[in-house]
Amino acid sequence: MTKRQDLAWWQKTIAYEIYPKSFYDTAAQGSGTIAGITAKLDYLASLGVGAIWITPCYKSPMVDNGYDVQDYRQIDPSFGTMADMDELIAKGNEKGVRVVMDLVFNHTSEQCAWFQESRKSRDNDYADWYIWRDARPDGSAPTNWRSIFGGSAWAWCEERQQYYLHTFAPQQPDLNWENPDVRRALIDIANFWADKGVGGFRIDAITYIKKPAEFVDGPADGEDGMYAVHAATANTPGILDFLHEFKAAVRDGRDIFLVGEANGVAADELGDWVGERGVFDMLFEFSHTKAVSCEDEVWCRPIQWKLTDLKRVLAESQANTADNGWYPIFFENHDQPRSTVNFFRCEGSTADKAKALGTVLLTLRGTPFVMQGQELGYANRVWKSLDEFDDLQTRSQYEFALTEGRTEAEALAGCNRFSRDNARTPMQWNDGKNAGFSEADTTWMPIHDNYAQINVEAESADPNSPLSWYRRLAALRAERDELVAGSFEELMAEDEQVYAFRRQGEGSAAVVLANLSDEPAAYDAALVAGMKLLVGTHGEAEAGSLRPLEAVVYGS
Ligand code: NOJ
Repeated sequence: MTKRQDLAWWQKTIAYEIYPKSFYDTAAQGSGTIAGITAKLDYLASLGVGAIWITPCYKSPMVDNGYDVQDYRQIDPSFGTMADMDELIAKGNEKGVRVVMDLVFNHTSEQCAWFQESRKSRDNDYADWYIWRDARPDGSAPTNWRSIFGGSAWAWCEERQQYYLHTFAPQQPDLNWENPDVRRALIDIANFWADKGVGGFRIDAITYIKKPAEFVDGPADGEDGMYAVHAATANTPGILDFLHEFKAAVRDGRDIFLVGEANGVAADELGDWVGERGVFDMLFEFSHTKAVSCEDEVWCRPIQWKLTDLKRVLAESQANTADNGWYPIFFENHDQPRSTVNFFRCEGSTADKAKALGTVLLTLRGTPFVMQGQELGYANRVWKSLDEFDDLQTRSQYEFALTEGRTEAEALAGCNRFSRDNARTPMQWNDGKNAGFSEADTTWMPIHDNYAQINVEAESADPNSPLSWYRRLAALRAERDELVAGSFEELMAEDEQVYAFRRQGEGSAAVVLANLSDEPAAYDAALVAGMKLLVGTHGEAEAGSLRPLEAVVYGS
């Protein structure tokens, strides 16, 4: 049986995702800064957070908010300087909050010096650093692949008289990992950051780095006659060889972790990707987010899902990381709508939903990843028109909906429900100007209307708030070994209201029961026989029954 003392630091801690543009602004400019993260380290430590994943803050034209990197060795001036970053890493390490950098290695910005060279000719030193192909005889793109953000995955380069591949936006050309010089350059960048003392890396869009040997058209999967690039290129055999090379050159011998973002890897493939045999310490796979919302890449249609669908895929991920590797638990990130909307199909208070799902997040087996604002119980924002959105993907989803024959109202409703911007509105620190996020007159993204109630200051003072609940559960994890190291056994797997499981440790056990519905629910009181209530969202609880959206943790 696993013991807490045998686990690595990153398995025992809570990780927290920071979208730096929206975290805290120390420059009165309307968008967040690196110094703003340093200023809030004590807040993060108060949540039991030991690792902060910061989405890209490198020099970038910000077409995709930093996921289009111009220079991996510079901080974008809008966030501050490298000295600010060095200070954050150093102060964070002092306080036990390690910085996790986001490596965007499937593609660069078109402004990256490598691409600027590559585009000039077919025979310069960087000519083969990207994926270039000739046009078809009629001048059209080499294949009918549709990029993830919509439109063709190929863009024409006048200078070179060739097309280049972009899995995401045209401003994000894909790197050619077949070229050993590219791989060497990326490894050097990762080591540059590892040498600065960061605690790990989140590696972006990793399933797309290997392209198939032959580039061929796929069957049209939409009205536009195109075929999703994801289906054509994700998880191409041979990809793991690249990643083993990367792991050996960057991860081995260091006390850091690698978490890959791996859309396209199924829960039952986890064994090849993580742990002893694998290439990462943890892998963000999306079987559970897909179970509740996304039907396809380009336009998210609400689907009818049941709690048992969600529980089934989560149980699979738990099983597949039980003896090998480790699971990163997440219900939100900067690409997902807020979980209080995404993971519930019932009425009821947003705060109660945040606490019930937060209980699951902080007690499943694995390292919880909290998205900034999730601990406050954010809901989606109400977006009144397309103009209010910033995200390029949301805009293209809106356009795509119209080409599929939806009305403007339907397209806007879809964006409200699914837009990535829901996760990107600024942090709400207090009920003052701009929710305490910025002293500027305007902010880069609107502040949520609910900031007078939903903010760190107000929730810290309220023992029943989602924030207080997160702090309580973080303290419970620190005390109870089984919640960190214990095994996972699902209970009541067929129940459509209650998510229940048992964590068995060496000398102690816990049973978690979360009613994720807005109706009262019953369970067999024998499940918690001989145990005492450790924490409950609604105060005292009665064994055998749960109030709507009530969550409890019992322990022996
Ligand atoms: C995944 C990132 O999480 C997302 O925000 C980004 O747009 C794409 N990869 C492209 O880098």
